Amino acid sequence: MAPVVFVTRPLPDPGINVLIESGFEVRANNEDRPLLREELMAGVQGADALLCMLSDRIDTELLEAAPALRVVSNYAVGFDNIDVAAARQRGIEVTTTPGVLTDATADLAWALLLAAARNLGAGERLVRAGEWTGWSPTQLLGEPLRNQTLGIVGMGAIGQAVARRAQGFGMHVVYCNRNRVESEIEDSLDAEFVALDDLLRRSDFISLHAPLNDQSRHMFNSRAFGLMKPTAVLVNTGRGAVIDEAELVNVLRDRRIAAAGLDVYEFEPKITEGLLTLDNVVLAPHLGSASTLARGDMVRLCCENIVEVLAGRPAVTPAPG
Ligand code: DGY
Repeated sequence: MAPVVFVTRPLPDPGINVLIESGFEVRANNEDRPLLREELMAGVQGADALLCMLSDRIDTELLEAAPALRVVSNYAVGFDNIDVAAARQRGIEVTTTPGVLTDATADLAWALLLAAARNLGAGERLVRAGEWTGWSPTQLLGEPLRNQTLGIVGMGAIGQAVARRAQGFGMHVVYCNRNRVESEIEDSLDAEFVALDDLLRRSDFISLHAPLNDQSRHMFNSRAFGLMKPTAVLVNTGRGAVIDEAELVNVLRDRRIAAAGLDVYEFEPKITEGLLTLDNVVLAPHLGSASTLARGDMVRLCCENIVEVLAGRPAVTPAPG
């Protein structure tokens, strides 16, 4: 019998033909919407491999419902939606898509940083509303970049790509990370390793790239916001729950920080009330990896991981840990 692969969402080019060509029986959700929990539970029954999205919760209950499962291939680099320990305990490999979306996500972080720093969201709304009356010497003044300090929280591949781009803007980079990165990388990025509180106090811009886990959940809470500069701009293209979103609304409303650019949300796709009406926040719909190149490479990598594991070979990109 051909191994069964369950795919939870339609994927962009080059698509999942390689799975069919590899002789697998592919069962796929063909509707472009997240599966309901019961649909996901039903779908994994009898599956040897699962190609899932960051919106699919892969926990013990689900793994128990899929006794034949050998690999969970996540269409994302983040994997906080998966109980990796529970999967590995059952001999199930978990894979992610590192590397291929690094540039796309770093580019989007910069798009948000620039948009938030220079009031692009508010400016666009003004123009679209037909309320712009012409150039003004005082209108929508933003924050400068040159000679400012960019703080990067999480100096993995994406954090490093964001830091690399900062050189073009003439910024000083400080970072915090679980471990200090190699000195050659620090030197090439001209980046200074600091403690989180130091980063919060010194940064004019902060970009978040830490994975979501018990340590990072609500890392940006009232205490952290209290240490930030009132002119600081916060950008998040990682995971929403790294920020206490209710508190973010308070500090943005009271101008205790200048602005934010968000691509991810604590209760995604629900947006915390307040964010929608504030003018000093730019909101994107989780577009970090959404370039044709990155999303295509993510499909390839997900399929390759499934082919390798079902052939009894090591995964190409196993989840860390
Ligand atoms: C990821 O890969 O973790 C992004 O959030 C979606 O591509």
